[in-house]
Amino acid sequence: MAKTKTAFVCQSCGTQASKWMGQCAGCNEWNTLIEEVIYKEKKGGVRRKFVDNISKKPVPITQVSSEDAERIPLPDSELNRVLGGGLVPGSVTLIGGDPGIGKSTLLLQLGLNYSSKKILYVSGEESANQIKMRAERIGKLHDNLLLLTDTSLERVMERIEECEPDLVIIDSIQTMHSPEVDSVPGSVAQIRECTSELIQFAKETSTPVVLIGHITKEGNIAGPKVMEHMVDVVLQFEGDRQHLYRLLRSSKNRFGSTNELGIYEMQGSGLKEVHDPSKVLLSQRDEGLSGSAIAASMEGARPMMIEAQALVSTAAYGTPQRTTTGFDQRRLHMLIAVLEKRCGLAIGKFDVFVNMAGGIRVDDPAIDMAVLCAALSSSEDFPIPAKTCFAGEVGLSGEIRPVTRIEQRIGEAEKLGFEDIFVSGYGLKGIETKGFDITVKPVKRVDEVFQQLFG
Ligand code: TYD
Ligand code: MG
Repeated sequence: MAKTKTAFVCQSCGTQASKWMGQCAGCNEWNTLIEEVIYKEKKGGVRRKFVDNISKKPVPITQVSSEDAERIPLPDSELNRVLGGGLVPGSVTLIGGDPGIGKSTLLLQLGLNYSSKKILYVSGEESANQIKMRAERIGKLHDNLLLLTDTSLERVMERIEECEPDLVIIDSIQTMHSPEVDSVPGSVAQIRECTSELIQFAKETSTPVVLIGHITKEGNIAGPKVMEHMVDVVLQFEGDRQHLYRLLRSSKNRFGSTNELGIYEMQGSGLKEVHDPSKVLLSQRDEGLSGSAIAASMEGARPMMIEAQALVSTAAYGTPQRTTTGFDQRRLHMLIAVLEKRCGLAIGKFDVFVNMAGGIRVDDPAIDMAVLCAALSSSEDFPIPAKTCFAGEVGLSGEIRPVTRIEQRIGEAEKLGFEDIFVSGYGLKGIETKGFDITVKPVKRVDEVFQQLFG
C-alpha cells in the first residue's frame, strides 16, 4: 500500500502543522488549517526534469553583470505600462481578479494580437470550442496561438516541451493539479507545487509564464499567500462588473515600480485600451447640475480627472444612510463630521450618497475636497462651475492638506481645459504654480473653499 503523509496546512499562509489547531501559528488566522495529503510515495526515478545542476559560486557584487533586464514588449500598451515595459524573459506573472472581470479575455486577446510569437494558452476552465468562439469575437485568429485544454500539470509540461512556446499562459492555476501531490486541485499544496514547477520551468528556459489566479471574498488571491511570494509580478484586474472600466494594478513587481496603472474598457469585442482616461471619464458628465465636483486625482503615476457625485437628501428612515461607490465609507463619515463641526452645516440628519463616476475605485486622498464640495453643492442645490476642479486632502480640523505631485495634477487639469483649480495653501513653497494658464487657487481651510465657491 502506498504510504501517504498528511499534514494540516493553513489555507492562508501555507504553514504546516502536524495536528489541527484553531489558530494558525504562522499568521494567527483562525480556522484556516485543513488536513491535506502531502506526498504520495514516489514512483521511483527522478522527479524533476529541469534539474539545476550548474554549481553556483558566490560572486562579488561589483562583478555581477549589470545589464538591465531585457524586456519583451507586448502588443498591449496598458499591459506594458503596468509591467514596466514588457515581460521579462523567465519571469512568472500572476494576474488575479474577481470571476467574470475579464482575466481570460485579457490574456486571450494578448495571444491573438501577438501573432509574431508562439503562444501556448492552457485552459483548465473552458473547452477549446468555447475559447475559439470567444476568440473569433475579439480578434483575428492565427496559427501561432496554440490552445491546450488540460488540467494535469504533468501532461501540460510534456506538451510545453514538445512545442517550445515563447510565452505560456495558464488559465487558471487553481484548476491545475500535479500527480506529485495527492490533494484536490485548488488546495494549498497543489497550487504551491504547480506554481513552483512552472517557476522552475520559466527560470530554466527563460520563457515567460503568465498565470491567472482566482480571488477570494477578501480580495486575496485564493490559495496561499506563499504563491504571491513565489512569483515575480502580481497584477490585480479590478473594476465594477456593472461598469465598463477595468483597472490593472500591480501589487508586486520585481522588475519595476508598482505605481503604474492600466485602464481598459470592456466592449462587445473585447477589452479596449484607454489612453486618455480623463477625457473618457469626463465625457459622460452633464454640466450645470448640483452635486458634482471634479477631482484632479492620481492613480499611481497617472493623472486622472474624476467626477465625484454626491446626493444629500432628507433621511427616509430614522438613521441616515451613508452609501458610497468607489470611495471609502469611513472617509465619508469623517468628511461629514468635518462639515458639521467646522462649517456648521447640519448634514447629520440627511442621507448622503457618494459615487465616483465610471465605477472606478479611488484611494487617492486628494479627492476629499471634491467629495466635500459635491456634498455641499448637493445640499445647497447650487452647481459648481463646470471649469473648476479640486486637489486636496481634508484633515480632521477642516484644514486642506497638500497632496503629492501637485504640478502634474495642475498640468492635467489645464490640458483638459479647466479654468480654476483649488489646491492646498500649505507646502506650496518651491512648487511652480505660476507658469500655468489655469488659475491656481490655494486654500487653507474648507470654509475658505466654500466662501470662494458659493459666496
Ligand atoms: P472573462 O474573461 O471570462 O472573465 P474571467 O476570466 O476573469 O472570469 O470575462 C467574462 C466577462 O466579460 C463576461 O461576463 C462577458 C464580458 N465580455 C464582454 O463584455 N465582451 C467581450 O468581448 C468578452 C469576450 C467578454
Ligand atoms: Mg476565466
